[in-house]
Amino acid sequence: MIKLTNVSKSFETKKGTVHAIDDVSLEVAKGEFFGVIGYSGAGKSTLIRCVNLLESPTTGSVFIKDQDVTNVPAEELLQVRRKIGMIFQGFNLLKTATVYDNIAIPLKLTDVDKQELD
Ligand SMILES: Nc1ncnc2c1ncn2[C@@H]1O[C@H](COP(=O)(O)OP(=O)(O)OP(=O)(O)O)[C@@H](O)[C@H]1O
Ligand SMILES: [Mg+2]
Repeated sequence: MIKLTNVSKSFETKKGTVHAIDDVSLEVAKGEFFGVIGYSGAGKSTLIRCVNLLESPTTGSVFIKDQDVTNVPAEELLQVRRKIGMIFQGFNLLKTATVYDNIAIPLKLTDVDKQELD
């Protein structure tokens, strides 16, 4: 269901190139649970961000349900991402809004109708 093949990700910084992920291949079948464990800075977040293309891999490919999503156009990528749940380390919730509104705001932006939203 999720397949990474030879995924690497490098960042160019003022201090040089940071190789955050180096040639990672893995496969997660439907219903399987995987944990990514490593020391701070090992590349865990970068790896997970590559799954939904919040980071695009420098090399390698990402497959979701057999679809190669590595280089899909931006508009199609939005559709793919909407079907992937992700819980961020920092939730970035609006503190002055209600729980309902925090959930509703992004759905309103994607034109989900009010009845479905409720
Ligand atoms: N946007 C970026 N630009 C430059 N370097 C980055 C960027 N994002 C991550 N890195 C670097 O890539 C490496 C991996 O970072 P990452 O955040 O993926 O690690 P992590 O395993 O999630 O760490 P932590 O346990 O602290 O959350 C680190 O050296 C980090 O400084
Ligand atoms: Mg992290």
